[in-house]
Amino acid sequence: MTRRFVTFSLAVILIVAAAGAFARPAVVPPQAASLAETVDALTTPEMDGRRSGTPGGDHAAGRLADWLAAAGLRPGGDAGSYLQSFVLETTSRPGPGSSLELLGPSQRRLEFGRDWIAHGGSLAGEVSGEVVFVGYGITVAEAGYDDYTGIDVRGKIALALDGSPPHLASRRVGRLDKLIAAKARGAAALLIVSGDLPAPETTSVEVGLLSGAVTREVADAMLAPSGRTTVEAARALVAGAPGRFATPTRARIRVEKVTHETRAANVIGILPGTDPTLASEVVVVGAHYDHLGRADGAVYPGADDNGSGTAVVLGLARAFAAAGGADRTLVFAFFGAEELGLIGSRHFVRQPPIPLARTVGMVNFDMVGRLQGRPLSIGGGDSGSRLRAVVSDAAQAEGLALDINGSPYGPSDHSSFYGAGVPVLFFYTGSHSDYHRPTDTADKIDATGMARVAAVGARVVERLASESRPVFAQVARPARRHGAGAAGGTLLGVVAVPRSGADGIRLSSVMPGTAAERAGLHEGDVIVRFAGLSVDGLEELRTLIRDRHPGDTVSILYLRAGEAHTTSATLGLSPD
Ligand code: BES
Ligand code: ZN
Repeated sequence: MTRRFVTFSLAVILIVAAAGAFARPAVVPPQAASLAETVDALTTPEMDGRRSGTPGGDHAAGRLADWLAAAGLRPGGDAGSYLQSFVLETTSRPGPGSSLELLGPSQRRLEFGRDWIAHGGSLAGEVSGEVVFVGYGITVAEAGYDDYTGIDVRGKIALALDGSPPHLASRRVGRLDKLIAAKARGAAALLIVSGDLPAPETTSVEVGLLSGAVTREVADAMLAPSGRTTVEAARALVAGAPGRFATPTRARIRVEKVTHETRAANVIGILPGTDPTLASEVVVVGAHYDHLGRADGAVYPGADDNGSGTAVVLGLARAFAAAGGADRTLVFAFFGAEELGLIGSRHFVRQPPIPLARTVGMVNFDMVGRLQGRPLSIGGGDSGSRLRAVVSDAAQAEGLALDINGSPYGPSDHSSFYGAGVPVLFFYTGSHSDYHRPTDTADKIDATGMARVAAVGARVVERLASESRPVFAQVARPARRHGAGAAGGTLLGVVAVPRSGADGIRLSSVMPGTAAERAGLHEGDVIVRFAGLSVDGLEELRTLIRDRHPGDTVSILYLRAGEAHTTSATLGLSPD
């Protein structure tokens, strides 16, 4: 009787155990071929570098939403969709109400977009006044050249030639230098003579005066009452003849600005938990899908940054969906606008689809496509209890060497979650010379390595989804790693995104505790000159910084809210 009971009990236990084991098929992590296919799909020409706020970025979001739907995940975005939209940038551009008229001696209404165009960064408003020809509109003190000597432009409309005189061509004086000079001399407006009228997006940096570009034909019409032409006036400037002069021409400029909201989106899919006691809690599995887009004709494909992490997260979403889910609810999130300053993940933590208080952990994959036999790096190990053990067990089970780092801070989306009180893990395979360059292409991806990273990720997610909740832990902020703008050991400490057009460098963030922060630079400032040299592109700023040494002090000319400022920065040493 006793024996029979024991046998019966054992049978019951076996049946219960079997039901537990067979209730859900095992999670089969994504294979290399499918991961490579996703990276390829994210780096096609239509993706155009996936910059948030561009058609390429929207296209990537659309594809991800379709893939999540096809895998059977539930929509976690706005109004029953997979997209969680947010405002990226509110900009104002010159609108159709902008006008330029010659008031006298002859009268003429010029056509916007054909005869002239307002700069994207022009002030809004109206001025009418005399036109003063200011040569190239530049001052080069070291060369004893000043286009503003002996002329008064206060309250007037200055007209300047594009570029610089041939003997100063190496000085590279740009649009912003001319605007800053005109404003400093009190001009109400500056018009720059241009062969091709520049698109407002390429002239969006604000300098506090009205400004725009006019065709050579219009400039000649303005000079005609003085009996001069732009070509002849340019020659006179070199010959030392009077090259700047007031004209009898009067004009009226009106610039109307229309505000324009650029939006981007996170793409979110939800896989409800299968354990009734745990399903109300969440593990977020995320990666940013955006990259840098295109600048000056070059596409930045971002295969590793972060086609790789996006592919791994999509692969995990499919794998867990095929297995019927995990004990806790899994939220798969593809973040937009990471490259523009972690904007998508910051939006997510402010408006999570499921309250953050119920989020037990966040796992971020950013740049996991270059394992190439090296150990896998995982950050955030000290951000919650037991996390180090969870990741080292997973890596060991997959036979992968691990480089665990406790810090939950870092240049990617997990830091938004850690800042909101969530334990985080940050999977990455390391930086390289293609980082943030057009050469970060799909052919350089180690897809087999990605599959191994995904397998470790699957084990980690499964444990976070089923075991007791990690307790959030406070970690001290470490010295910062280097970011964009720093190279070869010398650190300024600014983050910026490549853009088209020679128009300064707008900072998307300033790293705490760096030279840039001590110099008083803020997010949104535009660097125009570094150590007196014009900086028109990010690559150029990188080079200029690389050519200096830690401890060097350099002057920086920057614009903030349309006003020029000068500061000096004592460059630091990059911890890397
Ligand atoms: N994927 C990078 C971060 C990264 C770099 C991960 C190296 C792993 C190794 C991310 O997209 C990035 O570029 N971050 C910026 C900062 C961000 C706040 C704009 C960076 O590192 O400068
Ligand atoms: Zn990046």
